[in-house]
Amino acid sequence: MATTVTLIPGDGIGPEVVNATVRVLEAAGAPLEFERQIAGMHAAEALGNPLPQETLDSIERNGIALKGPLTTPIGAGFRSINVALRKHFELYANVRPAITMQPNPRYDDVNMVIVRENTEGLYVGVENYIGIGDDPHAVAESVMIITRYGSERIIRYAFEYALANDRKKVTLVHKANILKCTHGLFLEIGREIAKEYEGRVEFDDRIVDATAMALVVDPYQFDVIVTENMFGDILSDQVAGLVGGLGFAPGANIGKRASIFEAVHGSAPDIAGQGIANPTALILAACLMLEHLEHHDMAKAIGDALRRALRGDVVTGDLGGSASTQEYTDAVIEQLNA
Ligand code: NAI
Ligand code: MG
Repeated sequence: MATTVTLIPGDGIGPEVVNATVRVLEAAGAPLEFERQIAGMHAAEALGNPLPQETLDSIERNGIALKGPLTTPIGAGFRSINVALRKHFELYANVRPAITMQPNPRYDDVNMVIVRENTEGLYVGVENYIGIGDDPHAVAESVMIITRYGSERIIRYAFEYALANDRKKVTLVHKANILKCTHGLFLEIGREIAKEYEGRVEFDDRIVDATAMALVVDPYQFDVIVTENMFGDILSDQVAGLVGGLGFAPGANIGKRASIFEAVHGSAPDIAGQGIANPTALILAACLMLEHLEHHDMAKAIGDALRRALRGDVVTGDLGGSASTQEYTDAVIEQLNA
């Protein structure tokens, strides 16, 4: 039985990398049907609404979406549709794997996943200035919100993810030595939940600054990292750097009602329409989607085909080659069929 997926081509290079990804999924025989919907700049121009109701309804109905990057206008114009989607569907878990794909990488065989809490912490944006005398900006303050509900939900997600994806260890990253209430609560809940998984998933916790160094010195000691919003934002980019950067960074945004899979990179307006974008990150996002749908073998087959294709010289410009998006996609499909 095919799963219906909402497909959002997006802006800039979006349609190019989305089409490449659909070709790879079809070649792999993924049992998916796509419902194409628009959002972003493209939708704003066509319909006067960057997030049409029809698109929201489609995601609501299917519970799963694969999306290309969406352009956010700078200054005037609509606000980030990515943020709007995250809020609308309460996509509380941002899952960012960092897996070495390239030959001759900075680090061989890095293979870890960051599970970032996506709705709380300092990013709730409760902040304000306090004026003193004639200085309206004398002080600025910001409130960090950590709830038991939000912490349990994300930490449990990390453990369940570890079990479902055959990962051995969850490391909770925090700054509870300084932020004794907020991060203290996050850690306390982590320790409670870890007991339920004893014997099935290992657990440890680490302070964020020590983690940042350990990731660079010896990334192999990490498997699944679960952390709060801001630390997850920072560390997920750090680990993307360990495995070659944006070109290899997929992301999943998971909620109870819906999950949205995408590449971490943006719409790359500088190279849009030229047929030279690298579709690897979106193909990896599609693999995350397949894993989410429990098609683990299919996700692995595509990952292996990518790895073999990346060893060849038919790669896109950002990887030092001169292949077009289509030529590189052909090479991946050839490996898939090999
Ligand atoms: P960007 O990621 O689009 O581009 C940064 C640089 O990386 C550019 O030189 C671009 O050519 C290159 N690049 C990115 N993806 C590539 C790919 N697949 N293949 C080859 N080269 C690639 O970041 P930028 O320029 O800051 O943002 C452009 C637009 O994308 C903005 O409107 C931004 O708001 C939006 N954006 C959307 C995201 C999303 O929908 N999830 C995420 C990040 C940015
Ligand atoms: Mg970020």
